Amino acid sequence: MQNKDLKQIIITEEQLKIRAKEIGALIDKKYEGKEITLVGLLKGSYVFTADVARAISNPNTKVEFMVVSSYKNGASVGVVTINLDLKESPKGKNIIIIEDIVDSGRTLAKIKQMFIERGANSVEIAAMCTKPSRREEHVDLDYPTFEIPNEIVVGYGLDYNEMYRHLPYVAAISEKALGKYKK
Ligand code: IMP
Ligand code: MG
Repeated sequence: MQNKDLKQIIITEEQLKIRAKEIGALIDKKYEGKEITLVGLLKGSYVFTADVARAISNPNTKVEFMVVSSYKNGASVGVVTINLDLKESPKGKNIIIIEDIVDSGRTLAKIKQMFIERGANSVEIAAMCTKPSRREEHVDLDYPTFEIPNEIVVGYGLDYNEMYRHLPYVAAISEKALGKYKK
C-alpha cells in the first residue's frame, strides 16, 4: 500500500456502500409503517450510521447518537461507560443500534440490555464488521456484517488512538504504525 502505516485493505469502499444499501433495504422491509430510531455509537460508527440512514426510505426514522467507551482494567471484566446519552427516552421505541465493530461483544451486550431495561419496544443491532475470534459475550447481529480476522483495523470511522478514522475503506494497520501511534 502507498501508505506505509497500512498493511492491506480489508473492506473496500465499494463493499461498504453496497452493504449499507442492503441493510437500509432490509430495515425498510422489516419496519414498514413503523417508527424507528437509529442509534449510532460514537465515535466509530459516524460514517456507517450516515450511510445506513441515507439508505432508509421509511419517513418515520429518527437518528440519535450515544458516546460509549469500554475499557479493560487489568484482569477484571470490561466496564462500559455512557458518556453521552440519548436526547429522547427509548421507551416504546424500535431501536436499531449501529456499531462500527464487534470485538469482545461487551459494549453491545451492555447497551442492548440497557435499552431493554429502559423499556424499548424492540432492539436490533447492525454492525459494520465483527471479529468472531475475539468474542467473549454473545451478541445477536441482526443484519449482514463483515467478518474480519483478528487485526487492528482503521478507517470508515474506526481509529487507532484517533488516527485514520477518515479513510474511505477499512484497512489493517501495520505493526510499525501500532508502535508509532501507541499511547
Ligand atoms: P467490544 O466491547 O470489545 O466489542 O469493543 C468494541 C469497541 O472496541 C468498538 O466499538 C471499537 O471502538 C473498539 N475496537 C475493537 N476492535 C477495534 C479495531 O480493530 N479498530 C478500532 N477499534 C476497535
Ligand atoms: Mg466503538
